[in-house]
Amino acid sequence: MDATKLLLFTILAILPILNQAQNSTVDPYKLLHLIPNPDGSITRIKEFYPTVPPNTSSVAFSRDVPLNHDKKTWIRLYLPNKSDLVNLPITVYAHGGGFIILSTATPNFDWFLSNTASNLTVLVVSVEYRLAPEHRLPAAYDDVLEALHWVKEKKDVWVNKYADVTRCILMGESAGGNIAYNVGLGASILNHKLKPLVIKGLVLIQPFFGGLNRTESELKLPDSAGLPLVITDFMWNLSLPLGGSRNHPYCDPMFGGGSSNLDKIKELGWRVAIAGCDGDRLYDKQVEVFMFLKKQGVDVVGNFSKGDYHGVFVTELAKSLKLFEFVRSVFSYLRY
Ligand SMILES: *[C@@H]1O[C@H](CO)[C@@H](O)[C@H](O)[C@H]1NC(C)=O
Ligand SMILES: *[C@@H]1O[C@H](CO)[C@@H](O)[C@H](O)[C@H]1NC(C)=O
Ligand SMILES: *[C@@H]1O[C@H](CO)[C@@H](O)[C@H](O)[C@H]1NC(C)=O
Ligand SMILES: *[C@@H]1O[C@H](CO)[C@@H](O)[C@H](O)[C@H]1NC(C)=O
Ligand SMILES: *[C@@H]1O[C@H](CO)[C@@H](O)[C@H](O)[C@H]1NC(C)=O
Ligand SMILES: *[C@@H]1O[C@H](CO)[C@@H](O)[C@H](O)[C@H]1NC(C)=O
Ligand SMILES: *[C@@H]1O[C@H](CO)[C@@H](O)[C@H](O)[C@H]1NC(C)=O
Repeated sequence: MDATKLLLFTILAILPILNQAQNSTVDPYKLLHLIPNPDGSITRIKEFYPTVPPNTSSVAFSRDVPLNHDKKTWIRLYLPNKSDLVNLPITVYAHGGGFIILSTATPNFDWFLSNTASNLTVLVVSVEYRLAPEHRLPAAYDDVLEALHWVKEKKDVWVNKYADVTRCILMGESAGGNIAYNVGLGASILNHKLKPLVIKGLVLIQPFFGGLNRTESELKLPDSAGLPLVITDFMWNLSLPLGGSRNHPYCDPMFGGGSSNLDKIKELGWRVAIAGCDGDRLYDKQVEVFMFLKKQGVDVVGNFSKGDYHGVFVTELAKSLKLFEFVRSVFSYLRY
């Protein structure tokens, strides 16, 4: 593997490369190894976006199953390699990548999700949702919502045999955190339709939120922090509904005073866990959202730490373990 490929072997390895690119003269397509096509779609240059097959010999077993044939969506399931696999709580997961790149089968994410299944002793249902700009938001939200219905049906052998669908968490990292939040808002008012599936709450890991106004961490963090605004703006441009700006509820949870479904989330007693760290350019917005939800009376718990970088929780084992500990402290029914 040459040096560039090695750097790009993991998603987050893309981010340091972006450090060179803090000004608007850079071409986000080039930087992300994308080619814009005349029809508005993008080609994601394959060698920079490796994936791994499901793995049958690790701390967890994994399997791919189709979700929606027409939409070409699918699910990667992770079952912990443990004895006594009964009534496993479920974690429905959405991966990161700014809504436009990456896969649940991206090596980092696959590794992280095996550890998630194993450490939290849960059945992980990770959704290969549709990407933008071919499928702009809310396509990804719709796909993850469809996965909740898929879980509820209990037609899959692992879900049927090992899982307890009455204890479900929606979790995601980066853009996946945004997806978990917005799918949560949508699912909250469908709680009767989703039965017997019961959502207990949300886990938002360094969620990708934004807004028209720049935050201090967006502006002040040094180039070495990665994820420059030219890239996050580009991701919003490609993923928000056509004509949408960062002044959009999908981007900014505080827009217009926030969703009225937050009342439903309170009524249902969901818990919301948000993890972040101040070396992440998106940090200030995450804290803002945390404070906002708290003010709205949502049962939200924040775990904000010093240093680190965007993506750290799905990259470094020690940080993943800290995250699992945090999640366990919020959802006390999770066992070892
Ligand atoms: C912007 O980035 C380009 C490419 O890295 C560089 O050549 C140029 O000097 C930079 N401009 C400023 C104002 O930093
Ligand atoms: C599952 O875990 C057991 C106990 O740690 C180990 O002996 C076994 O090799 C694992 N199974 C697979 C397929 O890796
Ligand atoms: C499967 O997981 C094991 C343990 O985590 C790892 O050593 C092995 O390389 C993985 N295999 C593949 C094909 O990813
Ligand atoms: C889960 O993580 C904790 C540290 O937070 C560690 O002590 C424990 O061994 C891990 N358990 C599994 C099954 O990986
Ligand atoms: C942006 O910041 C300005 C000045 O602080 C404030 O008046 C305005 O309400 C903010 N707009 C949004 C959408 O948050
Ligand atoms: C985002 O879209 C706006 C409006 O079309 C454009 O002015 C801006 O240059 C775009 N920014 C990026 C980073 O693509
Ligand atoms: C974050 O969670 C970890 C694990 O539960 C805990 O040890 C740590 O004190 C928490 N940090 C903050 C700032 O809440």
